[in-house]
Amino acid sequence: MLTLGSVRRIALLGATGSIGRQAVEVVARNPELELCALASGSTALDDLAAEHGVEHVQVGGDVTALLEVAEPDVVLNAIVGFAGVRATLWALEHGVTLALANKESLVAAGDLALQARIRGGGPLLPVDSEHSAAFQCLEGRPSETVDSLVLTASGGPFRGRTRAELEHVTVEETLAHPTWSMGPKITVDSATLANKGLEVIEAHFLFGLPYERIEVVVHPTSVVHALVRLRDGAALAHLGYPDMSVPISFALNYPERAATDLTGLDFTAGLTLEFEPPDLDTFPLLRLAREAGELGGTFPCAFNAANEVAVEAFLAGRLPFLGIAETVERVLEAAPGTPAGDLDDLFEADADARRLARTALGSEALA
Ligand SMILES: NC(=O)c1ccc[n+]([C@@H]2O[C@H](COP(=O)([O-])OP(=O)(O)OC[C@H]3O[C@@H](n4cnc5c(N)ncnc54)[C@H](OP(=O)(O)O)[C@@H]3O)[C@@H](O)[C@H]2O)c1
Repeated sequence: MLTLGSVRRIALLGATGSIGRQAVEVVARNPELELCALASGSTALDDLAAEHGVEHVQVGGDVTALLEVAEPDVVLNAIVGFAGVRATLWALEHGVTLALANKESLVAAGDLALQARIRGGGPLLPVDSEHSAAFQCLEGRPSETVDSLVLTASGGPFRGRTRAELEHVTVEETLAHPTWSMGPKITVDSATLANKGLEVIEAHFLFGLPYERIEVVVHPTSVVHALVRLRDGAALAHLGYPDMSVPISFALNYPERAATDLTGLDFTAGLTLEFEPPDLDTFPLLRLAREAGELGGTFPCAFNAANEVAVEAFLAGRLPFLGIAETVERVLEAAPGTPAGDLDDLFEADADARRLARTALGSEALA
């Protein structure tokens, strides 16, 4: 359990990624934080570990053994994809503070994660900027006073385009995100709006809100990260320039609020706050994610697995942009969507959905 004023030992998983690198900087700037463990998928960590005096390091494999020996105060899970699920469940089960960037693990394993969280009793702090913002707007507020949560989406690089215009978009165009600089998988997810779909499911599990009380609105400049509508007609908003070091710092220092050297918003420079509804016909993955979330059981896991396989195929040039949603839709139609009683059930559902996605990709390639 954390004690205020003592140095916090952070296990940084996904240390070489976009979030990981920003987290290293946040920790380096704050003498009350130190890195005690680093993990990556395949990139060597020796130099980073030497530079920051980190004893416990792991490249690839199951990170729970690393967490057992490192005994962190905080696990910052910034692994990309379902590969982060064991770390999320380990932290929740052990009551170790979980700073969660790896949204896919909460989407896929939401029910198991909530059960582990009840048993472990530790804090779960979102690092996703929208959820960090929502957490701050919701904190200390009785749920009956909250009408709904509004997640904002930038709309990605293809906002305003028609389906016909998206038929031949390239990987390069897809990776050119207008407001956020992120790893390749989440950047593609932002362009298809799958990311916002994953975030709707993430918000459901984080805040215990039913899906009909989670709205999505497109807000192109990404200055408002989330809003909370209250029953008296007021809406609370969280604003800031798009910079992930703010939610990373918030989660690592919570409940304290550390200073950062970021520039505050300039309200004299023509800040415009525009909002529009998402286009669910052109970007069906947002609708499909919501449907998978509402169905529950292993459907969100299947949605996530199919999306991971399809995004990988798109990035490798084996699938057109619109094929990502088509693949996910086919997998959801075929997935059994059983309840996930334990981790074995979940891994089975993930593997089944990946198999279905690869089959769908095979027929797509032949079509
Ligand atoms: N980037 C953002 O601004 C942002 C914002 C909100 C939420 N997120 C979420 O944060 C997570 C990370 O995103 P990112 O953009 O930082 O991704 P990224 O740049 O692709 O980095 C992914 C990290 O995960 C590591 N990794 C992959 N497989 C692993 C495994 N099996 N075991 C241990 N480490 C593994 C990678 O190591 P290698 O270098 O060895 O491949 C890398 O360090 C995602 O869930 C994303 O949705 C990101």
